[in-house]
Amino acid sequence: MEYIGATGVSIEFTSVPISQSIDFHFILSFAIDADSSGNPQNGTFSPYWSSTLTPKAVKSIKSIYSNVKVLASLSGWSLGQKVLSWYNPHDQNLWISNAFFSLKSIIETYGLDGIDIDYERFPKHHESFAYCIGEVIARLKKKGVISVATIAPFYTTVIPYIELYTRYGDHIDYVNYQFYTDKVKTPETYLEAFRNRTQQFDKNKVLPSYEVNGRGIQGDAFFEALKLVEDNGFIISGAMIFSADASLSNGFYYEKKTQAYLVNNSTVTSGNL
Ligand SMILES: *[C@@H]1O[C@H](CO)[C@@H](O)[C@H](O)[C@H]1NC(C)=O
Ligand SMILES: *[C@@H]1O[C@H](CO)[C@@H](O)[C@H](O)[C@H]1NC(C)=O
Ligand SMILES: *[C@@H]1O[C@H](CO)[C@@H](O)[C@H](O)[C@H]1NC(C)=O
Ligand SMILES: *[C@@H]1O[C@H](CO)[C@@H](O)[C@H](O)[C@H]1NC(C)=O
Repeated sequence: MEYIGATGVSIEFTSVPISQSIDFHFILSFAIDADSSGNPQNGTFSPYWSSTLTPKAVKSIKSIYSNVKVLASLSGWSLGQKVLSWYNPHDQNLWISNAFFSLKSIIETYGLDGIDIDYERFPKHHESFAYCIGEVIARLKKKGVISVATIAPFYTTVIPYIELYTRYGDHIDYVNYQFYTDKVKTPETYLEAFRNRTQQFDKNKVLPSYEVNGRGIQGDAFFEALKLVEDNGFIISGAMIFSADASLSNGFYYEKKTQAYLVNNSTVTSGNL
C-alpha cells in the first residue's frame, strides 16, 4: 500500500514501479470533508489529491496492471495551512448519509476500489467517530461500492481506532499502522512495537510501515526488521509506505525492495503492497 498525491508534487501512477506478482494498492491522499478553506461540510467529502491523479489515470493504471487497486484516504493531517480534526457532527445520521453519497460519487467517478481512514486529530470526546465512520464503511461495503477498507492509526490516535475496530473490524481489511510515529529506530524495537500493535488489532491485518525520508526506522534496517518480525512467528501480509511523493527523488528504492521482499514470500503467504 502506498500513499500518493498528498504534497502537491506532480506525480503519476506510472512513475511508481509495480510488481505484477502481488496486489498493489495506491492510496489517494486525501478526500476531505471540507471546503477549500478547510471548513467542515457535514460529511460531504471532496477530492484534494494531486490533480495529475485523474479518473483517466486511474483507469489507465488499472488496465495496465490487473493487480492494482486504488483507494481514497479520508482526511489526513491538514488542508493547506489548516490542521484537520474529527468533529462531533450535529446530526450523526445526516453526516453518515452525506459521507456515503459523496464518497460513492467520488468512488464511481474515479473508479476506486476502497477507502482508507486517516483522521489524525480528535476532540476529547470522540465517540461519534467509531459509529459514523464504521457505518460509512459498512454501508459502502454492503452496497458493493467498495471491496477494500483500511485504517491508519498512530500512537496518539490508537484509542478511537480501537473503538472503531472493535465494532466494525469485520469490514476492515488492513491496519496501516503508522509505526514511524512510534519512533522505533532499530529492528529489535520495531519488533516490540509490532508485537504491541498486533495485540490491539488483528495480528494478520496489521501491516508494517515505512516513512520515506521520515521518522522511525530508516534505510535497510527496515528490511532487517521485517525479517526479524517474521522470524518471531508473525506473518507479513503486506506493507505500507508513505509516500510515493517522497520517493520520486530516490528512484523508489523502498517500493522496489519491499515488493521484492513480499514477492519472495508470496508463495508461502499472500502478500500485498
Ligand atoms: C451543517 O449542518 C448544520 C446543522 O444542520 C447547519 O447549520 C450548517 O449550515 C451545515 N453546514 C454546511 C456547511 O452545510
Ligand atoms: C510495548 O508495550 C510495553 C508494555 O505496554 C511497553 O512497555 C513498551 O514501551 C512498548 N514498546 C514499544 C516499542 O511500543
Ligand atoms: C529471496 O529469498 C531467497 C531465499 O531465501 C534469498 O536468498 C533472497 O535474498 C531473497 N530476496 C529478497 C529480495 O528478499
Ligand atoms: C520471507 O523472505 C525473507 C527474506 O528472504 C526470509 O527471510 C523469510 O524467511 C521469508 N518468509 C517466508 C515465510 O518465506
